[in-house]
Amino acid sequence: MVASQNLCFCVCLRSGVHRLRNPFTRSRRWWEVGEEREEEEEEEGANMPNEVVAMEEENAAVEVEVEVEGEASEQVVTPWTVESKDGGINYEKLIVDFGCSRMDADMVARVERLTGRPAHPFLRRSVFFAHREFDKILDSFEKGEKFYLYTGRGPSSESLHLGHLVPFMFTKYLQDAFKVPLVIQLTDDEKFLWKNLELDEARRLARENAKDIIACGFDISRTFIFSDFDYVGGEFYRNMVRISKCVTLNQVRGIFGFVGEDHIGKVMFPPVQAAPSFPTSFPHMFGDAKQSKDIRCLIPCAIDQDPYFRMTRDAAPRLGYNKPALIESTFFPALQGDSGKMSASDPYSAIYVTDTAKQIKDKVNKSFSGGRDTAEEQRKYGANVEVDVPIKYLGFFLDDDEELKRITEAYRTGQMLTGEVKKVLIDILVTMVERHRRARAAVTEEMVDVFMTARPLPHMFG
Ligand code: TRP
Repeated sequence: MVASQNLCFCVCLRSGVHRLRNPFTRSRRWWEVGEEREEEEEEEGANMPNEVVAMEEENAAVEVEVEVEGEASEQVVTPWTVESKDGGINYEKLIVDFGCSRMDADMVARVERLTGRPAHPFLRRSVFFAHREFDKILDSFEKGEKFYLYTGRGPSSESLHLGHLVPFMFTKYLQDAFKVPLVIQLTDDEKFLWKNLELDEARRLARENAKDIIACGFDISRTFIFSDFDYVGGEFYRNMVRISKCVTLNQVRGIFGFVGEDHIGKVMFPPVQAAPSFPTSFPHMFGDAKQSKDIRCLIPCAIDQDPYFRMTRDAAPRLGYNKPALIESTFFPALQGDSGKMSASDPYSAIYVTDTAKQIKDKVNKSFSGGRDTAEEQRKYGANVEVDVPIKYLGFFLDDDEELKRITEAYRTGQMLTGEVKKVLIDILVTMVERHRRARAAVTEEMVDVFMTARPLPHMFG
């Protein structure tokens, strides 16, 4: 392995690293090398001069760019860009490119066994389709060891849409099933840096979004919600600085696609999202480093957040921490059809938790259908359920497996009409959104204050 890295080094000197352009390709190769390296060089890594680490990794990137150029640009998935040539995201390819693992049926069955309850539909139906070392979390849970959950939200808009709720609904299930503590990061700093938002507006949105998150039903005795602007400091900041020292500028350029013209706030941010992956960032919950260092972290998130955590996982062993485990979801489809993520700037691409029953009905009725143009044709030929948005949405929100199967089959074979399927979905969504609205209205300012106070959580593992 050492020899092959040296070889890459030569390649680099000849071809010149700054020729690299495609951030996606670069990041892919860079992190594979990072993961390989850790076994042998974990110990030395921390002492290695930064330039040397950066060079090895960049060089490897050059090598791969030559191999896969062209193919790599078919789809781009980063925290800010979700794009693909033909509209659909190829998730199998993402698993290979990112180097994560597929969530398989055995693992889902194991979750059911260990928690003694049925798996969440998002797990049964592969909405959470990929993971990194989730098996290690299950192993340690089986042995009675502790772990905690970490997830987050960038507060860029006043109200959330259904896609925003997906990770939180799932995290709530994980918290209840495993009875574990949870930290939720509100990255108001991230949104200030990336969006055209005043700093105080970003802070305000963080608090507003916290209410929607609390409305998902998190257990106040096991949950800490924090805004970066308010919480960063102390042990959290010390971890950020430790992480920063493990990552070179070339590495963040590779993985996030930063360019020379970007302000340095962007370069500064990834360690902020990385730090909650380490339990010592929360001494009020887990105690000092001696008590808490080995508590594992599990991060439920959409797959576009993976770059942050590839970076975190690479740094972890060098800092003497466990790598965070991940459980990763596909993107929630837009109403106009599956072309990646919904856009917050287009109100008609998504259903918001603030939508009225009438708005929901109109939006669903206008959504992309795989049904035929006329009832007659639909009865004769049936629908294309693969591309039908209402069927996809039912896959997320209709709990009953048998019923889902029955509807899908009836629609596919023409026994059910488009309007009938849409009606089923409208009823489910109206009920769901109404329930959310009531729960949110019941969240008081005092409750938000408690959730967002750094405080001991004495029964968090109970
Ligand atoms: N960057 C995420 C966003 O823009 C927010 C976030 C912070 C997050 N930490 C996280 C998401 C951990 C998932 C897991 O929405």
